[in-house]
Amino acid sequence: MRNIIVTGGCGFIGSNFVRYWLDRHASHVTVLDKLTYAGRRENLHDLWGDPRLSLVEGDIGDQALVRRVCRERNVDLIVNFAAETHVDQSILGPLVFTDTNVRGTHVLLEVARELGIRLHHVSTDEVYGHIPDGHQSVETDPLAARSPYAASKAAADQLVQAYYITYGLPVTITRGANNVGPYQYPEKAVPLFSTNAILGEPLPVYGDGRQMRDYAHVHDHCTGIEAVLLRGEIGQVYNVGTGREMTNLEMVDIVLDTLGGDRGLVRHVTDRPGHDRRYSMNVDKVRALGWEPRYDPREAVAEAARWYAGNRWWWEPIRSGAFREYYERQYVRRLASAPTGQPS
Ligand code: NAD
Ligand code: TYD
Repeated sequence: MRNIIVTGGCGFIGSNFVRYWLDRHASHVTVLDKLTYAGRRENLHDLWGDPRLSLVEGDIGDQALVRRVCRERNVDLIVNFAAETHVDQSILGPLVFTDTNVRGTHVLLEVARELGIRLHHVSTDEVYGHIPDGHQSVETDPLAARSPYAASKAAADQLVQAYYITYGLPVTITRGANNVGPYQYPEKAVPLFSTNAILGEPLPVYGDGRQMRDYAHVHDHCTGIEAVLLRGEIGQVYNVGTGREMTNLEMVDIVLDTLGGDRGLVRHVTDRPGHDRRYSMNVDKVRALGWEPRYDPREAVAEAARWYAGNRWWWEPIRSGAFREYYERQYVRRLASAPTGQPS
């Protein structure tokens, strides 16, 4: 693992992973990133001068580019974070999710097969679909994705497994729970609610707010991926989360308590179509590699909210730019028709 490509390394989890990895390992990291709205150079602001890090701006679906970078840099590992990642965006415009998440991952697999490179793929708990009370997803459960985002991630996940089975390509997969922490684009729930609370704007909770998520700290996702890279078995899939869920309303309470926000800001708005009610994963398999999460989900959400309070320099320019257009499309009508404090 001397020469690594981290795709999507300017995004939320990718940038946290690059920082974590360079702190602990003697590798050269090439970030391959298309720099979409979610990919931001400033997410690695503290590291750009480091000779062990470089950026190639490009698309994982560009096979010639991926091949050239892998050859020139003698790459021995690709860690694939690059993706379109937001469920609501996948409902508004799904095709780019297939382009990047499915075809892009497929191109990485083809280059990895041609050059004999290990590929670690970052998948998600959303591939399991929504999970009835009393069950926790295990890695052998059938995939049952229900949003265009989740379906594109499920397709990629299966392609990665198919390349191991068919070609013996050395691959591993982690399926992460909902991550929270620094540098998460404010379209996602925790940074959206945190920044809205700080600005005194309403918090748009979809439906009754009793959907359940495992809000895991991004640090623990990074250490889980590291455990799989160092000690995981080739060809295997590992769930990475805390194994504990809370409702979105509980998450909102933690955000408001942490930031001293007003509960009167909460609005129950029209639900997301096909909204998955509950995700929950069993994480025994990654624990068996000696991995443990550092953060309880409640601490993870509180710590994330504090980061947004302390780092306005990072999110204020985002919120006043192109994000505004998306926000208006997604929320303005919903909020206008939401009675204050009442489920819609
Ligand atoms: P993000 O949206 O913050 O970042 C995605 C990154 O990928 C950005 O830097 C973007 O510019 C880059 N990118 C997008 N299309 C690209 C392309 N065609 N070529 C090259 N780069 C491209 O996403 P994130 O939240 O950091 O998620 C990273 C990965 O982890 C994704 O694969 C996602 O499915 C997975 N995941 C995320 C979560 C979560 O809670 N955020 C949970 C589990 C798994
Ligand atoms: P999100 O961060 O989009 O992650 P995911 O859909 O991948 O779980 O949303 C987390 C939860 O918060 C999910 O149940 C949807 C809900 N949510 C809201 O209630 N309002 C919002 O404005 C957003 C973005 C999400």
